[in-house]
Amino acid sequence: MLEVVAEKTGYPVDMLELSMDLAGDLGVDSIKRVEILAAMRDQAPDLPEVDPAELGKLRTLQEIVDRMALDEKAPLDEKAPREAAQGGSATQSRRADRPPAVAPGVPPTASSAQPLPQSMRWALRLEATPASGFALPGLLDATAIAVLDGGSGLAELVAAGLAKHGVKAAASTPGATSDGVISLGGLADLGSVDDALAVQREAFVAAKAVAAKLTEGRGIFVTVQDTGGDFGLSGEEPSERAWLGGLPGLVKTAAQEWPAVGTRAIDLDRDGRDPKTIADVIVAELLRGGTPHRDGAAGAGIEVAIRADGTRSTLISYAADVTPGTQRVTKESVIVASGGARGVTATTLIALAEASGARFVLLGRTALEDEPASCKSATDDAGIKKALLADAKAAGIAIKPADLGAHAARILAGREVNATLRAIEAAGGQARYVAASVTDGDALGDALSEVRAAWGPITGIVHGAGLIADRYITDKSLEDWGRVFDTKVEGLRALLEVTAGDPLEVLIAFSSVAGRCGNRGQCDYAMANETLNKVLAVESRRRGNTFFARSLRWGPWDGGMMTPDLKKHFQDLGVPLIPLAAGAQMLVDELTDDSDSLELVLGGEPRPEALSAPDADRSVPATFDVIIDREAFPTIDDHRVKGQPVLPVALVLELFARAVEATRPDLVFSAIEELKVLRGVALEHFSEGGDRFRVRITRVSNGDGATFRLELLDADGRPRYSANGIAERSTPTRTSVPPRPGALTRFEGTVYDGGALFHGDAFQVIVGAPDIGETGLEAVLEGTASRGWPAGEWATDPALVDGGLQLALLWTCNAEGAGGALPTSVKSYRRFVRGLIDGPLKAILTVTDQNADRSISDVVLIDSSGQPVAELLGIETHVLPGSRTSSSVRA
Ligand SMILES: NC(=O)c1ccc[n+]([C@@H]2O[C@H](COP(=O)([O-])OP(=O)(O)OC[C@H]3O[C@@H](n4cnc5c(N)ncnc54)[C@H](OP(=O)(O)O)[C@@H]3O)[C@@H](O)[C@H]2O)c1
Repeated sequence: MLEVVAEKTGYPVDMLELSMDLAGDLGVDSIKRVEILAAMRDQAPDLPEVDPAELGKLRTLQEIVDRMALDEKAPLDEKAPREAAQGGSATQSRRADRPPAVAPGVPPTASSAQPLPQSMRWALRLEATPASGFALPGLLDATAIAVLDGGSGLAELVAAGLAKHGVKAAASTPGATSDGVISLGGLADLGSVDDALAVQREAFVAAKAVAAKLTEGRGIFVTVQDTGGDFGLSGEEPSERAWLGGLPGLVKTAAQEWPAVGTRAIDLDRDGRDPKTIADVIVAELLRGGTPHRDGAAGAGIEVAIRADGTRSTLISYAADVTPGTQRVTKESVIVASGGARGVTATTLIALAEASGARFVLLGRTALEDEPASCKSATDDAGIKKALLADAKAAGIAIKPADLGAHAARILAGREVNATLRAIEAAGGQARYVAASVTDGDALGDALSEVRAAWGPITGIVHGAGLIADRYITDKSLEDWGRVFDTKVEGLRALLEVTAGDPLEVLIAFSSVAGRCGNRGQCDYAMANETLNKVLAVESRRRGNTFFARSLRWGPWDGGMMTPDLKKHFQDLGVPLIPLAAGAQMLVDELTDDSDSLELVLGGEPRPEALSAPDADRSVPATFDVIIDREAFPTIDDHRVKGQPVLPVALVLELFARAVEATRPDLVFSAIEELKVLRGVALEHFSEGGDRFRVRITRVSNGDGATFRLELLDADGRPRYSANGIAERSTPTRTSVPPRPGALTRFEGTVYDGGALFHGDAFQVIVGAPDIGETGLEAVLEGTASRGWPAGEWATDPALVDGGLQLALLWTCNAEGAGGALPTSVKSYRRFVRGLIDGPLKAILTVTDQNADRSISDVVLIDSSGQPVAELLGIETHVLPGSRTSSSVRA
């Protein structure tokens, strides 16, 4: 054990004792613990597995030894949750003992240029995404949602708006018993950047307050901000509001750490509108905005931008190549680079020096100090520690391992800084180093005065300083959060302040894909990086066309912060690591880009599942909650039986189709099969509060497409409808048009007679009188768009579907001389066109079976070009008991 620890930490073995505290005495963090254990297992393969989460709790080397001995007696299946074992998870700061980004004394460049992997660059845009109509998952079941006002003045209104629909929400501060948070601070008026940053801190504190509960179960976590209703992409919001921009980073991380929780980051343009209107928009989004996709682009559906005109959009990443053009960095440039002396930022600057010959001011906390002579010949951490220990022994000084380790780390960091300075000079640039924290505005101000005197004004900033201290929200202290967040955010603020009078032409921020996707254990880092992106957009707009800003959301590099353990984690997930040479070239190329994309992901594809283990078990049923009321579905007012609003079959079919689409957005919803009305639904609360339903969807099979079992459950959990839903790679087609069903004559009765066809205006889709005969009918139908239904994202054309069912009722009642009939099942509905269908359509109904009580028929809908657009096959229609009249055909 001691030999392995010595090898992995570099402490000489005779300095180690089993009683030593791993963190306090040896500076061993959780990643290093895993490394030590792995190395021990290499030597003794029979040693039992110890989960990293448990390993993290062991304080001393002796406790590890005891644990392993104990474990021999423990049952093998006694394993801690898988989540805790993920890389990128709750680990301590890796700064102290991680290997330097480059070998000491070696310039941090990669000599053999590796080819750039394809599709390594992703830009960002907003894409209009209408609300799906489903409630935010967890909203309707939550028992105590805290609506945190945060100075917005909206909490009472939002809570009341939700309560009207039976949602258990109250204006309050989140606490341990809350199972939901709606944080509204991002909508408050802001007097300063400090106010904006306080909102971000408050949101983190709110998340932490509910973290223990939400880690375990369901609930909701929502933030609302006003950064222009476009997540700051245009940079048009007042500048201090951009400093709110990290809120979605918290929500996207929460979504990964709490997979069963409904999450939403809303950017809502207040646009001077009154509080009630704004509260109504928020309530509507929560009640009907829908469910974030489990697959697809990063955060799809978690971030929702709502413009003042009501346009609802989500953020989409798309592959985009550099458009090479302007050479922005030249040998005249004076670039201040935080974090530029070490890590991957250093690597990129050396390449930039080679391409431009520019002058660089490198900032870092590492103080350059003279190395003891004894260390000069030592080339690695262990060698340096050995030499330092020998010095201490010779001088009769007792030295603690942690102090020894810190000294060795300082020496290595200093060597890395010097190596970078030399490498920049060797590449044709000039470099000077300033040992100061990027957050220390005074020190920066003094240092840059000297630089200006020597080199002239500052023309560019590369903000590369950053650190990580990974812990789940539930374990993360406000202090840790602040360290990580401030290095990036206060660092950028200080850099902008000290260069306010400089003619800045270039501003580059080293951001992270963790901001785009969220990342377990990294809510602080994700929030900080998101903030950089948004502040750069505002700066870019404020400074005009000649100013060049880029927020580079790097994916994982093969260097820098990337520990061996994290590397393995990403490799296991199939996420490519950015090779040093390729990444350096990417920065050089980016600085010549003439496109107007400011926020870029460079590296792995920005998908949340690319950064976390894909743990969504798709055979587990997913649920989609929906409230049916007049506000959301006003046309149901025209679907009343004896005055009582009734849920139309066509709307159930629509909800099923939406659930399939939301579950597999990568496929195309194509069909509903075996739709059964188990029990029709009267909507008792249609006018007040609404009736709640849940669509339960379970995967039945998965191949080229997917088949799902669908159920519509009422508020008491009773199934009312069931069906199978089919999703395919592409929309199915049908070319054959059925023949005219026998001899037909004009229908002479009143189509919408208030009996068989009881429908009001919005559902009166049968145009004129059909031609009807013994084995079918032909009619003209118009669809949803023509009947004035609310605009929106319809998966089917529900009015047309209803029209098809109406034809079956009409034919059955006519044939049976009945005054009423109801559809009870549909064998299959297939659509050949997505969404609403324009114009009058021909409908051909063909009866396939008939007896006194029921008929079975097929309806095919054909557009004006003769193309079938949808079909309803096997519509089973039953005559309502007692509705037969004396003029019945059979009678
Ligand atoms: N490596 C990756 O996979 C990866 C992925 C995405 C994004 N990034 C981003 O790229 C940047 C560099 O990362 P890296 O991997 O090279 O990390 P790193 O090896 O840990 O280097 C961090 C750099 O930041 C400096 N720094 C930290 N705190 C500072 C402070 N308060 N003031 C001034 N400098 C400070 C460090 O220098 P001192 O220690 O001397 O202060 C060092 O130069 C970071 O912004 C990171 O977020 C990296």
